[in-house]
Amino acid sequence: MKIADVRADIPLLEEVIYLDAASTTPTPKPVVEAMCDYYYNYNANMGRGAYKTAIKATTKYENTREKLSKFLNCEFEEIIFTKNTTEAINTVANGFDFKKGDSVIISNIEHHSNFVPWLNLRKKGVNLKIVTADENGVLDPLDVEKAIDETTRLISITHVSNAIGSLQPIGDIGKIAEEKDVLFMVDAAQSLGHMKIDLKNINPDFAAFPGHKGLLGPLGTGFLYCRSEVVDKLYPTNLGGGTVLDVSENDFTLDAVPARFEGGTPNIAGIVGLGTAVDYIDRIGLSNIEKHAKKLTRYMFDGINRIENTICYGDPENIYGIVSFNINNINPHDVAKILDELKRICVRSGYHCAIPAIRHIGAYKLGGNIRASIHYYNTKEEIKIFVDTLAEISKFLGD
Ligand code: ALA
Repeated sequence: MKIADVRADIPLLEEVIYLDAASTTPTPKPVVEAMCDYYYNYNANMGRGAYKTAIKATTKYENTREKLSKFLNCEFEEIIFTKNTTEAINTVANGFDFKKGDSVIISNIEHHSNFVPWLNLRKKGVNLKIVTADENGVLDPLDVEKAIDETTRLISITHVSNAIGSLQPIGDIGKIAEEKDVLFMVDAAQSLGHMKIDLKNINPDFAAFPGHKGLLGPLGTGFLYCRSEVVDKLYPTNLGGGTVLDVSENDFTLDAVPARFEGGTPNIAGIVGLGTAVDYIDRIGLSNIEKHAKKLTRYMFDGINRIENTICYGDPENIYGIVSFNINNINPHDVAKILDELKRICVRSGYHCAIPAIRHIGAYKLGGNIRASIHYYNTKEEIKIFVDTLAEISKFLGD
């Protein structure tokens, strides 16, 4: 699919220059239509009814699981639906049998969703070891290796930093984890749908994914990949309808995986829409998305970097789809508001739910930074308007 075809499917892009894909992406028409089709034509619960409409809802829901497992090269039952990446990470943090004295390794550039759930385990006596990234927000696998000791149970690292856009060496970190017999989790919030992910190749034990970002799927959808060999280490934290095979007044028997992890009625329309989103991304082609993102990210970084009084964060050779920056002495929220007022440009500003990462790059006292993030629907012309507008703002307000 060409960029113009994708843009034609997203009416919002006629109104605004949308540079906030790292928060969420606008949903293309076929995905919205798939959700409408569910609501209009087979709006029944899944996994529960014997009648045809309910069976259709179940089949469509499970088709998405099938599509995702093919898309990521894993097994059908290794996909556990959640409402977002955060819930997927919490499923591991709260479902794993951590003991007092165990430790978990993360980095100082993680999103709060891959930080706070682990920090919270301190209440159980679990220690958190935080590896520091370099000045460009990139981790050295050797630092991760050095942090491992006999108490380490799990390493959880982001694939792409949501605050800086820096790509992490997760392949090397995964190999170290395997050699040291430590579980490895990847936060793929900013990489899914933006680049090829082959789970057999990266080989993590767990990976947390959003539906509503790079995949162009609906809000309220996400999933956890849990490698079959380690799934017994996880206990479901959301028990109830749909998670058990048998219940007596004294006990219950858990259902098989993944049902035992998907308690209660799920976001059926959203998951059906997510299946359509996978097809849609396949139609665009991940290699086209990657090529476009690399070119556009570099064009945007260089354009912003050339403006007087600006500072861009990260190494332009190693950031992906995200450019984070500041214009001297202007509060990032003010820049974001001016961009919106002048040209209806949508960017995120502030701490990006990653305060330790923002501290790390020295932007905490500035009120955070401005983050522009792209997807396949963005054009070079849009980035030019964005950069030109920033140059105007810097001329009038920067020092
Ligand atoms: N995790 C999203 C972001 O980084 C919301 O903006």
